[in-house]
Parts: sequence; C-alpha cells; structure tokens
Amino acid sequence: MALRTKLPDLPPSIFTTMSVLAKEQGAINLSQGFPNFDPDPQLLQLAANAMQDGYNQYAPLGGIYPLREVISSKIESLYGKYYHPEHEITVTVGATQALFTAIAAFVWPGDEVIVLKPAYDCYEPSIIAQGGIPVLVPLEPKDHSVDWELFSNAISNKTRMVIINTPHNPSGRIFSKEDMLQLQELLAGTDIILLSDEVYEHIVFDNQVHESVSKFEGLASRSLVCASFGKTFHVTGWKMGYCAAPKELMKEFQKIHEFNVFCANHPLQRALAQYLKAPENYTGLGEFFENKRDQFLEGLQGSKFRYIPSQGTYFQLLDYSDITVEKDIDFAIRLTVEKGVASIPISVFNKDQTDHKMLRFCFAKKEDTLNKATEILRTI
Ligand SMILES: Cc1ncc(COP(=O)(O)O)c(C=O)c1O
Repeated sequence: MALRTKLPDLPPSIFTTMSVLAKEQGAINLSQGFPNFDPDPQLLQLAANAMQDGYNQYAPLGGIYPLREVISSKIESLYGKYYHPEHEITVTVGATQALFTAIAAFVWPGDEVIVLKPAYDCYEPSIIAQGGIPVLVPLEPKDHSVDWELFSNAISNKTRMVIINTPHNPSGRIFSKEDMLQLQELLAGTDIILLSDEVYEHIVFDNQVHESVSKFEGLASRSLVCASFGKTFHVTGWKMGYCAAPKELMKEFQKIHEFNVFCANHPLQRALAQYLKAPENYTGLGEFFENKRDQFLEGLQGSKFRYIPSQGTYFQLLDYSDITVEKDIDFAIRLTVEKGVASIPISVFNKDQTDHKMLRFCFAKKEDTLNKATEILRTI
C-alpha cells in the first residue's frame, strides 16, 4: 500500500529522545517539562470522589458548566475580560488539543501562520497537517525579545494566523505590555487570528505580571487563548486544559472539537471545578516556582554557565559557550551520558536549527534533585 505522509520532515521528539537517554543512563532528568513532585492531595481526593460519585460518562461538549463558570470568573478577575461560560469557553484535552483544534478550525491550505522561533514543538506540525505554511520569525538570540520590525515584515496578505506564547517555552521570557500593544497595533485592521499559548500564565517571577491577550480588547476580539491545568496544578499526565475565545471564534473551534474528542475527561472536570474555586490554589504558583528558579541559579554560582534569569515558566536557559564549542545536541548528550544531567538543546526549536550554544533545564523538581543537578553542573 502506498502511503503519503503529511509530516515528512518530522524529527523524533527531542523530549522523548532525551528522556529515554536520561532513563537509560540513570541521569537526573531536567529535560522534559514536568514536576517530579506530587500534586496537592486535596485535588487527587476530589478526582477520586468524582469517580466514586458516578461522574464516569461523557461530559457536555464544551465541558461541564460549573467548570466553565469558574474558568470564566478566574479570567475576569485576573485580566478583566468576561468570557461567557456557555459560548466562549471549551474544556480541552490539555492545551495541545486546544492548540491543534484552533489551528484545524482556522488554517486553510496555503494559509501562512507566523510562529516566533524558538517555539514549542507542536505548532508547526499542526499547521502543516492542515496544509498551512509556517512563517518562522526568529526572536533575538541573546534575550529572546521580539524584533517587531522583523515580525511586521513577515505579515503578508496570506497571513491567516499568528501564534504567540507567553511566558515562553523554552526561553522563560515574558511579553511586556508594550509588546502586546505593538502586536495589537500591527494586527489592527487585518483579519488575522491570534492564537495565544498561555499555559504558564500563573508562573511569572520578580513581581512582574502576566500580560494575557485577554487584557487587550483589540487582541482579545481576534484571539483564542489556550491554558493548561496540567502546568498549573502539577498534573501534566491528566491532559486537561481549556480554550477561551469570543463567541464567533469559539463556534468554529467547537465544530472541530466535536469530532476531534467531543469532550474532555468528565470526573477530572468535576475535581477541577471544585479546586479552582479557591484562587490560592493558583495565585501562589509564581512564588513557588520563583523559589525553585532561585535555588537552581544559586546552585550554579561559580559555574561556567551564563544565563539571564528566567522571567516565567519552569525553564531556565543556560549558555555554555564558555565551556565548549560542541554543538548543543552533542553537548546535551555528553552531559547526560558522562555527567548524569539531562537537558534539552535549544537548536531543535530554532529556525534552521541555529545553534546558539544554549540548553534548557526544567527546574520543576524537588529540592534534592535540583541540589544534586547543580552540584554536577558547577563542576563542568
Ligand atoms: C508552551 C507549551 N504549550 C503547550 C504545552 C502542552 O500543554 P498540555 O500538556 O496541557 O497539552 C506545553 C507543554 O509542555 C508547553 O510548554
């Protein structure tokens, strides 16, 4: 049988590659982005209760109403934007499904989609699977800020969508208010849809605030905002998230969602609806991870790595150009095999796989794990 692949150039996932290598080598795994500590037992109890209480059949397409209501209140209280729970919020199977569904709903063959590079790895394959054309705009290599002139030059009459991600994986950079206003100005008067990946919205450091696109009416009116409960509540394996968007956009989103998954896990929605009622369950997250970032960076004092402290997410980039001229992939592998610490080489996320000699380390780890890792990194 002759098969035609829709994704001919897809490399093996670097997350899988590094995690498998870390396991084989018994290395400390700071590569893939998930915590190695347990979620709040109260959340686990709520999930168990929901199953015991019989919520084991399909949920409504958009998600259970109490969860959509509490998501709506959360967004309104944090960003001052009201999304109607009935028509403007959909509970999804993690942010990944929300992102894929949004792309499938709006990108047509031949459409261009602007992606800022380095970028999280799920955007481009999703665009290509729809026949769209990713237009890759590099961020400034040093600090990962957006070059708005470069961005503006990438907009054409074929641009259907722009994807942004703040706080940004892999760089830990956040968009400022000025960035958002700049973007709003550049998109004004166009039909371009904005897809905003905000999975790390609650993980922002140093008294800065998360600038959600929801705060900017000129952006919110053309945007689908994607979020992840996995990232917020240390339950990445639950694959639960949501998408918020104005009614006309959400209507199209739900047409694809219906035949993609129909609905997300029902008992977990019950648990999240309860848990999300207490804002303290997510408002302290920034401080929690800021302490971990600080512990990681303090542990690196005296090492040869250079860095700009991460502004958000649970990732820290380290520049190793004072240590070796090796390619980042080679160095990441050697670090795992010879020294026992696994990370992610950044070139795999870059346009043309450009190598700026940087590795990404995930600090969503127990204190002891971070101490052991930095003890090793200091000696390199
Ligand atoms: C930027 C970004 N977007 C989306 C996701 C996927 O989120 P989820 O696990 O909820 O699908 C991740 C996971 O690492 C991410 O880092």
